[in-house]
Order: sequence, then C-alpha cells, then structure tokens
Amino acid sequence: NSDTNETGRSGSRSAPPAAGTQQKIDVNPPRGTRDFPPDEMRLRTWLFNNFREVSRMYGFEEVDFPVLESEALYIRKAGEEIRDQLYCFEDRGNRRVALRPELTPSLARLVIQKGKSLSLPVKWFAVGQCWRYERMTRGRRREHYQWNMDIIGVADIFAEAELISSVVTFFKQIGITASDVGFKISSRKVLQEVLNCYSISEALFGKVCIIIDKMGKIPIEEIKKELALVQLPGEAIEELLQVLSMKCLTELEEKLGAAGEAVSDLKQLFSLADKYGFSEWIQFDASVVRGLAYYTGIVFEGFDREGKLRAICGGGRYDQLLSTFGGDDIPACGFGFGDAVIVELLKEKGILPEISPHVENIVCSLDRDLQGVAAAIATRLRGRGQSVDLVLENKPLKWVFKRAKRVNAARLVFVGADEWQKGMVGVKNLSTGEQYEINVDELE
Ligand code: HAM
Repeated sequence: NSDTNETGRSGSRSAPPAAGTQQKIDVNPPRGTRDFPPDEMRLRTWLFNNFREVSRMYGFEEVDFPVLESEALYIRKAGEEIRDQLYCFEDRGNRRVALRPELTPSLARLVIQKGKSLSLPVKWFAVGQCWRYERMTRGRRREHYQWNMDIIGVADIFAEAELISSVVTFFKQIGITASDVGFKISSRKVLQEVLNCYSISEALFGKVCIIIDKMGKIPIEEIKKELALVQLPGEAIEELLQVLSMKCLTELEEKLGAAGEAVSDLKQLFSLADKYGFSEWIQFDASVVRGLAYYTGIVFEGFDREGKLRAICGGGRYDQLLSTFGGDDIPACGFGFGDAVIVELLKEKGILPEISPHVENIVCSLDRDLQGVAAAIATRLRGRGQSVDLVLENKPLKWVFKRAKRVNAARLVFVGADEWQKGMVGVKNLSTGEQYEINVDELE
C-alpha cells in the first residue's frame, strides 16, 4: 500500500527530537481529509443551504446519526468495495466500531428502532460526513459529506420520481442544466429477470450486482472471470452482458416482455418524468446497477455529460434492507449526493459561486478611552440583531478601513471624543462613501 509511509510526509518518521526540542507537527490534515478555512466553509455552507432548501421544498424532515456506528451495520456478504474501505477499529470497551461510510444503514437502524411509532411514509433527509478509505481520484476523498433523501413506506415508483425530481430542482437551483448533467436509470429487476431463467439463487444476486458494477472500471474479461467464479453459467454471462449493453427501453421490452416488473417499473418512471417535467434529464441505461448490495429495484446515478467526472450522485430502491438487520421490511428508496464531484463540476462550468464574507457594521473608537463606548454601541446593535465586527484594539483609521474592506462591512461606525460629548457617533456608508454624524439612539 503506497500510503503506509504517508505519515512521513513532513519528516515525522525521522529520528525522535533531542531532549528539550519540540518537533514541528505535520500541518496538513490526514491524507484524503480536508480543513475548511473560511472561504471553503462559506462554499460548503452555500452548498448545504441549497441541499436543505430543496429538501424543505419537498417536505422532508432533517435527521442525523452518529458518525461512529457499530461495524456490524456495514458487514454485508456481497463483496462490496465499501466493506474494504471501512475505517474500523476496536474501541476501549472492546466493541467493533466503524466511521460511517454511508448513511443508509443508520437510517434503517433508526427506522427499526422507532418501529410502529413512525407514521409512514417517512420522508427524511440528512447531510452528514462519511468516511471511506478510498484510492483518491478527482472528486473522491477519504471523507466526504453526503446529502441523502429517503422515502420509507412507499412501494410505488412515485417515490423514485419524487426523489429524482428533487435532485433536478437542486441542479437547477445552482445553475446546472440538462445539457450539463443527466441521470442514467435502470432497475436491478432487469438482472433478476435474466438470472431467473437460469435458476440463480437469491443469495447470489447481490454478488452478481457488485461484479457487474465494476464494468467500465476493470476489463470485461475480468468481469466474466469473476462471474464464472460465482458459478454463473457461461450462457447466462453472455446473455447478461448483452442485456446490460441496452440503452433503449423498447429493446429491453422486446427482450424481457412487457409483463415483467423491470419493464413496467421503468416505463412508469419515464411516464412520471414526463408529468413532473424532467424527461430531458433522464435516460435508460441497463449497465447501471450501483455498487451497494441492498438495492432491489430502480437504480439511478447522476453523471456529467462531458464524461469527465465520476458519478455525481446515486441511489435506488432498497425494499429488503430492514430484514437484513432483523426488522420487518418496509419499501424504501433514496439517494446519496456527495459534496465533492458537484464542486468539481461547478468549477468545470466556471459557475462556482464566489461567496464573500459580510458583516453589517464595523465599530471602532478613535480614542483608547472610548473603546468601552464602542463596545457598548456594538452590544446595542447586536441586540437589534445586527452583525458587528468590533475593533478590539486601538487602531488607526487607515487600518480600520483596510479591515472593513477585508470583512466586507456595509458601514463603519466610529466614536470620536468631540462627537461623543454630544451623544453623537460618526457613520460611513462603505458602499456609497456617504459620511454623516448621527445620535447614537438613532443608530439602526
Ligand atoms: P453511493 O453510491 O455509495 O451510495 O454514494 C452516493 C454518493 O456519495 C456518490 O454518488 C458520491 O457523490 C458520494 N461519494 C461516495 N463516496 C465518495 C467519496 N469517497 N468521496 C466523495 N464523494 C463520495 C450511498 O452511499 C447510498 N447510501 C446512497 C443511498 C441513500 N441510497 C439510498 N439512500
């Protein structure tokens, strides 16, 4: 593993420091993780506000779960990549725990825990940090934030349509159009119906999906080898690969017939898309299966049409996840949308917003003795809900103006001895340059 030496980046693997000297720490965050200095944080807040705003528009309630969960929540037997990427360890009480790589198992856990007290359908959204020990590429990190929206308790394809519609609304809201991105849509039932003809066991189904998900990432010969290894007959493999190459729903219908759920679910979704008005955003693509074992029906992923980036978001129906945790199954559907690929896309398009800091007032005194008065004025303004950057040391006006520019203050309020004797303060509107004196009681 090329990362085994990464702690040595700034020499932390060199000889221990001599007694009495302090070794300088590595000032970089751990590989694959990020700091959020103010400019990055403003961008993140902007993005999350858009996630929250769209979720609110669709009537979803916000939830969250612990970042640290029991490792057992993520142990599935299908050979998913996510299993090998777990940040897991034993805590001081000898419990196996893991940093969550995704939010869905936690959501399932909470739904089971709430049981009958939940009134269905549940529409929940979350924005949470997830951890995966990934090989890093553009838009893929070892920690990322994921916006999730999930609907629990709706078996009808309306749930899928509502979820895709909400992502489309989000894209539009941040200036992304249908010519920038699209959704590839398929159903795991397509695979299931092909495999049914070969009496493939249910237990094998998840494994086959995980292997198929590697298509395009590893050579096709490898895929065939892996499918043969799980005892899939050669004939079934050939037929599977042929169906997976289909990009047209009529072709699929000719192959599987119109009676099956795969085709009828997909047709219903495309017809709903028409009603919602997002048809131009979606296309059928049988090769989409997604890399998580628990999906059972419709699956979808958001992609950039230039094909430069990894999936922007992904999701689908998972009607049988709850029973794998010992609960009663409830139909469920949702998606995860990361904070990394979308930022790369906005950069590509040149529409990453520039978000400046902003404060309504910068307040200073012109005289050291009046610093307390300036503080009292700041308190009054804050009491009226205004934001104030109070100059905490006695500084020359030139310095204050520079500072005002950096923090993007709307106005400067300054307290000088002569004015203050009359109960007045100076005000400068920093966008118009207008300057005047005002009675402190009239300062809005
Ligand atoms: P996922 O496809 O594994 O699904 O991830 C969903 C999205 O999270 C990806 O499309 C991507 O935007 C983002 N993402 C995943 N891993 C990384 C990473 N290492 N770095 C940056 N971004 C990443 C799930 O996690 C499902 N639990 C989603 C879901 C919710 N399905 C139903 N409900």
